[in-house]
Amino acid sequence: MKPLIWIIDEEWPDYEVEREILRDTFPDCRIEISAHDYQADLEKFGVEAEAIICQIYVNLPREVIERLTVCRCISVYGGGYERVDIEAARERGIKVTNVAGYCNEDVTDYVMAAIYHFYKNLAALASTVAFRPWGARAVPVPPQRLSQSNLHIIGLGRIGQELAAKAGANGLKVTAYDPYVPAEVMAGHGVRKTEWEEGLAGADYISVHMALNEHTTGLLKYEDFKKMKPTAVLINAARGRIIDEEGVARALAENLIRGVMLDTLSIEPPTGREAILSLENAVVTPHISYISVQSFEELKRRAARNVVIGLLGGNSPDLVNG
Ligand SMILES: NC(=O)c1ccc[n+]([C@@H]2O[C@H](COP(=O)([O-])OP(=O)(O)OC[C@H]3O[C@@H](n4cnc5c(N)ncnc54)[C@H](O)[C@@H]3O)[C@@H](O)[C@H]2O)c1
Repeated sequence: MKPLIWIIDEEWPDYEVEREILRDTFPDCRIEISAHDYQADLEKFGVEAEAIICQIYVNLPREVIERLTVCRCISVYGGGYERVDIEAARERGIKVTNVAGYCNEDVTDYVMAAIYHFYKNLAALASTVAFRPWGARAVPVPPQRLSQSNLHIIGLGRIGQELAAKAGANGLKVTAYDPYVPAEVMAGHGVRKTEWEEGLAGADYISVHMALNEHTTGLLKYEDFKKMKPTAVLINAARGRIIDEEGVARALAENLIRGVMLDTLSIEPPTGREAILSLENAVVTPHISYISVQSFEELKRRAARNVVIGLLGGNSPDLVNG
């Protein structure tokens, strides 16, 4: 076989891991690379590609999928695959895979870092040390210990469960809202199941961990921030559009909660004009919570392996439209 494998990406500096794995099984394969705005290459590579490996940011809607004449698999570099029309792909017999779980450790470390960021306030205290009172006078409102605090997780899947374990080990009490995970399963993870409002009202820290889909888009709205404690902190390292961004900006401007840490936004990369970017109590990071040497390696290796399995006619455990 001499398949054309089309990589759509503009983040990675090289594709050595992918090339090695693909060439190990298909020594004569052709590998072509396009940027996220791949339209100009659709005729050149898309129609000939037997497999596509693409970044989570790449839109593959129905009209594009219908033009892929020989494609047999689409392998997404990441956990979320909401930009690929998996139904259109299924209709054409194209297997779509993601790479779930490869960065659980990284994302949960990010959430713990976000919690500590607000808990200990180190960056703010260090940056003003020359102008401020020393010692207790620098901390007029002492923080609650983590052992007296509550983390509420919205979406107790792979990442949520690992976060629950890490937060529990750091002394936090953990509750979760997830209509698809029974209370007994949550209890097995040391988590107490709550209804929507109860979870929001009782939380000191809230962390969002579910897929973006038609049910979860805009799930957290302005009105929900009124249900939270004024000292609450919201963390989102799932997908930006799960939270109504104008609603959160308004809630922060009105000091309905203490602050937010967002690793994902509605539009990525942002235009720079978003209200959320200029609010003092919003910390926004450029979608980096998944990054480590080890997560990169696993992500690239599994994405390439998923193509090999797909082209050989098999079903990867990472299949999302089987
Ligand atoms: N920022 C990053 O770099 C990064 C990295 C990896 C994953 N992610 C995102 O994190 C998401 C979660 O990853 P995961 O591996 O834990 O997914 P998962 O599928 O294992 O877990 C998602 C959980 O959300 C729950 N859920 C679904 N609808 C819900 C709803 N309406 N309310 C509450 N819970 C609901 C599901 O029951 C499931 O338990 C991914 O979909 C991806 O978008 C982001």
